[in-house]
Amino acid sequence: MDFKDVPAIVTGGASGLGEGAARALAAAGAKVAIFDLQEERGQAIAEELGGIFVRCDVSSAESAEAAFAAAREVHGACGIAVNCAGIAPAGKIVGKEGPMPLADFDKVIQVNLVGSFNIMRLAAAEMATREPNADGERGVFISTASIAAYEGQIGQVAYSASKGGVVAMTLQAARELARSGIRVNTIAPGLFMTPMMSGFPQEVQDSLAATLPFPQRLGNPDEYGMLVDQIVRNPLLNGETIRLDCALRMAPK
Ligand SMILES: NC(=O)c1ccc[n+]([C@@H]2O[C@H](COP(=O)([O-])OP(=O)(O)OC[C@H]3O[C@@H](n4cnc5c(N)ncnc54)[C@H](O)[C@@H]3O)[C@@H](O)[C@H]2O)c1
Repeated sequence: MDFKDVPAIVTGGASGLGEGAARALAAAGAKVAIFDLQEERGQAIAEELGGIFVRCDVSSAESAEAAFAAAREVHGACGIAVNCAGIAPAGKIVGKEGPMPLADFDKVIQVNLVGSFNIMRLAAAEMATREPNADGERGVFISTASIAAYEGQIGQVAYSASKGGVVAMTLQAARELARSGIRVNTIAPGLFMTPMMSGFPQEVQDSLAATLPFPQRLGNPDEYGMLVDQIVRNPLLNGETIRLDCALRMAPK
């Protein structure tokens, strides 16, 4: 799909991989709206990219509906949506304090899985109203899973479950939205240098990097943005989850 002047929404665009996606989309000519909880950083990036910032909690129906309406008002109906908003708290099924509080599990599912669906349902409804291109294409939705969907480490039960749900929705959604000319793909990142990761001590970062077959370094958000760019461009990519992980297969811990 062509990017020129296409309204694009990036959730989690105020940080890390979402910022990488927002920069790639803006560089390709899209009109970017950043949806995030972090207002200051989100505003600053949006301003730099000539886009807009809208405060949005992806796990809330009302908040996301209001954010889509606000972005539509300024840019028009969304043609590209990239969902990067996410959280990754660690927690064991049974920890030192006993069984994991159910609310902790629920919170991760609400943000990572329900949030992804929330953005997908609203984006798809808007995309379906757009004029199709010569291929019949009206929109592209990209979600962000994790390789923890496949190789969840000890302490990642909620995170793995949420990302596994995102992977499972991908083909289903691509099938269902095909009749509207909307493609759906998911990126499953390995290890990337983002604020989510840079909080870890240097030795932890180094030991994580040492587990990567090649290249032996954490990815940069612009390398995530490169894949977003390619997914939007290539009309044949549909219903797929793409690992972007330097051939990493995570160990149990
Ligand atoms: N960094 C990695 O190595 C890595 C690996 C695999 C998967 N991921 C996934 O990629 C996505 C982005 O991660 P990141 O590393 O860029 O993290 P990050 O913490 O740098 O950015 C996440 C952004 O999401 C926003 N956010 C959190 N909850 C939100 C909510 N309810 N509504 C709206 N915005 C919300 C945060 O404010 C933040 O700006 C996440 O889904 C994460 O699980 C990251």
